[in-house]
Amino acid sequence: MTDDVSRNERIKEASDYLRGTLAEGLAEEITGAIVEDDQQLVKFHGMYLQDDRDLRPERTRKKMEKAFAFMIRVRVPGGVLSPAQWLALDQVARDYGNHTMRLTTRQTVQLHGIIKSNLKATLKEIDAALLNSIAACGDVNRNVMCGANPEQGPAHAAALELARKVSDHLTPQTPAYREIWLDGERIAGGEDNVVEPIYGKTYLPRKFKIVAAVPPSNDVDVFAHDLGFIAVLDDKGGVTGWNVTVGGGMGMTHGEEDTYPRTADLMGFCATKDAVAIAEAVVTVQRDWGDRLNRKHARLKYTIEDRGLDFFRAEVVRRAKVVVEPAKPFKFTSTGDRYGWSQAADGRSHLTLFVQNGRLFDHASAKQLSALRQIAQSHDGNFRITPNQNLIVANIPIERQTEIHWIAKEAGLLAPWSGLRRNSMACVALPTCGLALAESERYLPDLMTALDESLAAHGLSSDDIVIRMTGCPNGCARPYLAEIGLVGKGPGRYNLYLGAAFDGSRLSKLYAEDFDHNAIVAALDSVFAAYAAERQKGERFGDFTIRTGLVAATGNGRDFHANVGKQAGRAAR
Ligand code: HEM
Ligand code: SF4
Repeated sequence: MTDDVSRNERIKEASDYLRGTLAEGLAEEITGAIVEDDQQLVKFHGMYLQDDRDLRPERTRKKMEKAFAFMIRVRVPGGVLSPAQWLALDQVARDYGNHTMRLTTRQTVQLHGIIKSNLKATLKEIDAALLNSIAACGDVNRNVMCGANPEQGPAHAAALELARKVSDHLTPQTPAYREIWLDGERIAGGEDNVVEPIYGKTYLPRKFKIVAAVPPSNDVDVFAHDLGFIAVLDDKGGVTGWNVTVGGGMGMTHGEEDTYPRTADLMGFCATKDAVAIAEAVVTVQRDWGDRLNRKHARLKYTIEDRGLDFFRAEVVRRAKVVVEPAKPFKFTSTGDRYGWSQAADGRSHLTLFVQNGRLFDHASAKQLSALRQIAQSHDGNFRITPNQNLIVANIPIERQTEIHWIAKEAGLLAPWSGLRRNSMACVALPTCGLALAESERYLPDLMTALDESLAAHGLSSDDIVIRMTGCPNGCARPYLAEIGLVGKGPGRYNLYLGAAFDGSRLSKLYAEDFDHNAIVAALDSVFAAYAAERQKGERFGDFTIRTGLVAATGNGRDFHANVGKQAGRAAR
């Protein structure tokens, strides 16, 4: 490698397939942290080193080390967990974590607050439940998602099967995880194409995310991902093959217009038997063509912007040696979850619960973890984490429905009446996320209480309007695909985005910059008033803000930053 590669590239190359000095760092008792290079490598093992940012001032005053702890993200393809797996995660959250479980926007579970000396014990228990955290973070293919809306017909089964196959095929092969965390025997390195046949020594230039969607639900937000498979259905609800999307992504940096969120392009249609080969080819083209000099330009979305879709498709087809036909028609209607009860084909039922921002814990008035533990202890179906940070208790026999309904109701896990809250998501942000510029998970519920008052005044309480918040522009809760997107700018201040499509097909546009709570509430109150008075029949909130000129519509790629501020009603501070 030349001197020009990014620092992370050098760390990967020197790491001996993700080992670095992690084993030595774990044994080092003098600090709760690990050295900087290993902090990058540990992500590939599904962990982030964090510190409690609430405690920083006090600990600095007392000249103490930061309150270091790790976040572990478990890999859960398709978001499906057995009751035994649920119970195992619940147990480690209470034994080693901060007594919460965080369901994520990408269908995984995050455990926070695990101190270094408890990491191995935690990962061993996770392993005993037949789960792991390999490649949950890092420059590799991450958790593969699939549609979770609970109709559970053959198309959902096919999407889950595809998610699992793609996940297995693209999981890193290095024995480092087993060696370091599970006391496996050290296995000597070999040639790149033996140890990591798909990734090689330096893995991918950046993270990589794959989903499988089942229309008409776009709950997975297929256009936000590097690679997407959209089921093409026959008359009986079976899958005839998959439309393939490439080059979606959310992250950007404030003030740097070369970085932008991007909705994925439709690359074509493929047969089910070819889908894994396509996934591998897309990954290897990105491995070879992605930018390894500049991490802010390293996602597949930039490779495709720079090289063009046609060129990219031709290379994928050449490598995969399969036929990619023109894309087939499909229609999405929403990105939301279908709350409440729904019937499975075999007479059993599913209950979709509402988990505010994905955070589950026992608080004074609602004992959520305990309630779910009680359900899991005698449940013979499974649990499905939705891409909206919610949870489906799936395959409930008729005789348990009343009991489970009441347990969930007592724990405050049934969907709220507010159409805004039902369609809300927030990333973690403070106090654990080191990148947060503003609050998110801890603030959005309060903001929505204020917005609900305004919506009620305009008779809009039960309207489904999608709102998402993140503490920084990285976009972990996909805010640029929300009809109302709020992105942290600094403490207590947010950029407000409007104009995304309800079905997840169009990005939003900046409407107001650096707004505090009062400014956000006031700005949205006038937009709600206009929407109530002037909307056309069936018109969605996001579409309304475009038709009435509040923001310009965003097309693809660089268009996200175009025409900002030129629209009629841009809010002033
Ligand atoms: C440059 C881009 C990004 C960086 C550096 C980044 C980094 C992080 C970090 C440090 C956390 C841990 C927060 C915590 O648990 O305390 C996190 C959480 C998470 N990120 Fe990202 N992220 C980026 C973009 C994204 C995007 C675009 C997505 C999804 C499309 C995403 C999905 C997630 C998810 C699912 C979580 C878990 C918590 C949640 O559901 O909010 N990330 N990210
Ligand atoms: S969006 Fe930013 S603040 Fe929120 S979890 Fe992701 S990286 Fe952290």
